[in-house]
Parts: sequence; C-alpha cells; structure tokens
Amino acid sequence: MKMKGLFITFEGTEGCGKSTQIALLAERLGALGRQVRTLREPGGTPIGEEIRHTLKHSEQNHAMTAEAELLLMNASRAQLVREVIRPALVAGEIVLCDRFYDSTMAYQGYGRELDLAKVKSVIEFAVGETKPDLTLFLHVPAEVSAERLRLRQSTLPVVRDRIEAADRKFFERVAHGYGVLAAGEPQRVKFVNGAQPVAAVCAQIWEVVQPLLP
Ligand code: TMP
Repeated sequence: MKMKGLFITFEGTEGCGKSTQIALLAERLGALGRQVRTLREPGGTPIGEEIRHTLKHSEQNHAMTAEAELLLMNASRAQLVREVIRPALVAGEIVLCDRFYDSTMAYQGYGRELDLAKVKSVIEFAVGETKPDLTLFLHVPAEVSAERLRLRQSTLPVVRDRIEAADRKFFERVAHGYGVLAAGEPQRVKFVNGAQPVAAVCAQIWEVVQPLLP
C-alpha cells in the first residue's frame, strides 16, 4: 500500500529533551496546516499502554528477563504499527514517534547485551516494511542526561520505573549503542545536539525536517 505521509522518530537517552521537541515540532507543523500524529513507545494504543505499564511500573516486573522485555517492547510496536502508524501514513499524516526500533537496538541490544542479530530479527518481524523516513537522535552528554533524570524524578510524584532504575554502566552501553547506530545509517539518523537551549535544538530539527515535508 502506498504511504503518502512522513514517519519521523525521536531517539536518545533519558532526559535528552525528546518530549519537548516533539511537542514543538507538532505545533509548528500543525500551524502550517499539516495533519500530525504524535505517538510514544512503548504504548500508543490501548494494548501498547497496558504493555508499557507492565514494562515500566507494574509491581511484579522486577523479575522480568531481558528476553521478555525485548518481546514485550516489540509486541507493543507490532500493534502500534498496524493499528495506528500504517493507516496514518496511508492517509498522508506526519507521524512523530517518541522512540521506535532504535531504542530496542540501544536498550535491549547494547544495554541488556542481547544478541544483536536476534534483536534485529525480532524488530523486523514486528515492523515489517514500516521504517522511519527520518530519525532524530538527540544527543546529550551522560552527565546532562543523569542530571535531567534526577530533576524529573525529584519533581514528579515518585512512580517506580524499572528501566530508569538500571545502573550507570547500562546507560553507558545504551549511549554507546546509539552512537554506533547513528553512525551506521547517516542518511536516516541525524545527530541533534540536545544540550543546546530548547530554541536552538528546535531550529536544528526544523532544518532537517523542512526539506522532507511532502
Ligand atoms: P520514556 O517513554 O520515558 O522514554 O520511557 C520508555 C522507556 O523504555 C525508556 O527507558 C526506554 C525504554 N525502551 C526500551 O528499553 N526499548 C524500546 O524498544 C523502547 C521503545 C523503549
């Protein structure tokens, strides 16, 4: 089926500023009369949001294995792709997704150290032909990421998040993984310096997005 829309994903470690930038881009595109849909992973569908809860906050999930985590992330994704993303793209919408399969490569592949070829094949099964046209990788130094995460955790009501509770070494591996992924696909994955002021990050993102608008 012909996809007329544009599929943009946002990636990065915790506290890289994705949510803020997605909201700003959606606002800008909306002001130009574009039909925009913002989504997040894991989640974005009723089934996906239940899976998100299981992955991040459920009381029982401390015993979750890396393999189960990989499959649940991709169960949520398989549902989102078919229930929402494909129909939206066929309808010509611009889909902005907070995380997609690069997160799985970075977190479950590099972070949890699962076999990268196996992780890739699970992703391929989940997404089929549905791949992002553009991926914005918001890069922030590890200290900035850790500080923003600490601030967020101190201002929001404390809700246990199993993934955020992982140790420093895990996040170092995730950050390294993102670097490798971005370098390996420079056409699709664009580096954005997420440590700049919000307006500067927004401007850098617009420079990359504008030429792709259908
Ligand atoms: P967030 O919505 O606050 O970014 O939380 C999502 C968490 O899930 C974040 O810690 C990254 C993690 N994640 C994975 O580990 N693998 C994945 O495939 C996705 C989409 C997210």
